[in-house]
Amino acid sequence: MAFINDQYLELQDSYLFSTIAKKVNEYVAAHPDKKIIRMGIGDVTRPLVPAVLKAMHDAVDEMGQKETFKGYGPEQGYSFLHDAVQSYYKSHGVDLSSDEIFISDGAKSDVGNITDIFGNENIVMIPDPVYPVYVDTNIMAGRDIVYLDSNAINNFCPMPPTDDEIAPDLIYLCSPNNPTGSVYNKEQLTAWVNYANENSAVILYDAAYECFINDASLPKSIYEIQGAKECAIEFCSLSKTAGFTGTRCGYTIVPKALTAFSVDGDAVSLNKLWLRRQTTKFNGVPYIIQKGAAAVFTEEGQKQIKENIDYYMKNARTIAATMDECGITYYGGDNSPYIWLECPNNMKSWDFFDYLLNEIAVVGTPGAGFGSNGEGYFRLTAFGDADNTVEAMERFKTLYKK
Ligand code: MLT
Repeated sequence: MAFINDQYLELQDSYLFSTIAKKVNEYVAAHPDKKIIRMGIGDVTRPLVPAVLKAMHDAVDEMGQKETFKGYGPEQGYSFLHDAVQSYYKSHGVDLSSDEIFISDGAKSDVGNITDIFGNENIVMIPDPVYPVYVDTNIMAGRDIVYLDSNAINNFCPMPPTDDEIAPDLIYLCSPNNPTGSVYNKEQLTAWVNYANENSAVILYDAAYECFINDASLPKSIYEIQGAKECAIEFCSLSKTAGFTGTRCGYTIVPKALTAFSVDGDAVSLNKLWLRRQTTKFNGVPYIIQKGAAAVFTEEGQKQIKENIDYYMKNARTIAATMDECGITYYGGDNSPYIWLECPNNMKSWDFFDYLLNEIAVVGTPGAGFGSNGEGYFRLTAFGDADNTVEAMERFKTLYKK
């Protein structure tokens, strides 16, 4: 007789974005004549940039020649992509060695898979609201979760607990934050790094949206903070940075100075464990994709992706201006592609979702889907087509403009 992992029964019936897709599909089937504008899932709409396409085309040709064909590559990624990531980090003052960089098929996979190398007895601290993958993957593993209140009082940048009774071993932080768009500054992140080092905790730092930070004083990487290499793993992705949501490539940094304890009390290298995990369970990202990813970090690639990032941030300004015109309180949108708004008239998040869909055929993401503190909030993404974003906001104003 086979048994399931009973922890899966503890999960909500379906993943947030699958639930939204199902609701939207039902609406489309019932209203085939309506033009829906999707500002729900943070999926990009700009195509891959020319530098990336050229690199991928060349790589396809290489794969078709006996002399340049590639079979299995290194599980942790090719050295040419490590070099590119290394120089990107160097440009914001962070020195990494090549073997601290692990290339993957995106931050979502690594954020979930990293739980493999940590014991189930760890107490996990997760901000609420936040990207649902952190919660779901720890429920799957059966770990105890303590939630960290993220709310308007702390400007959606919750700080380390001062209550000694709460002693998290693993701490998830996401900055710029999904869904709230908030960003930790250097002082706040220093407080987290100090807290983690003092308490021998490990920070799992999701930096998937770092490229949207405009303000040069804000950290793009946790390793800009002294002491972070002793306490943090960082996840990053080209999904939003360079339009790789369908192409899949990201990178995870596991510093060699970072350790956690065995049951015998020995300090064990997490870099070594992650390498062991990846070489066993992962066969690497395709050569063609890694070649495209490396092109993102060239001068030409950086210039081209910047145009797309600027395009999305213009959408963010359109959304923010609409909220201003309608007198709606919101967060984010300046150093992040997400606008996190208070649902008007004290509506609940899912009611507001249904209302916008039915009244103006605009799709967003209900804040409650990111955690209980998200109730009463709503997320709009700036990743849409510019004309559609303007149209959606015109429709929005028909409901709320004062
Ligand atoms: C989101 O909308 O929160 C993201 O697109 C989800 C993801 O990156 O997996």
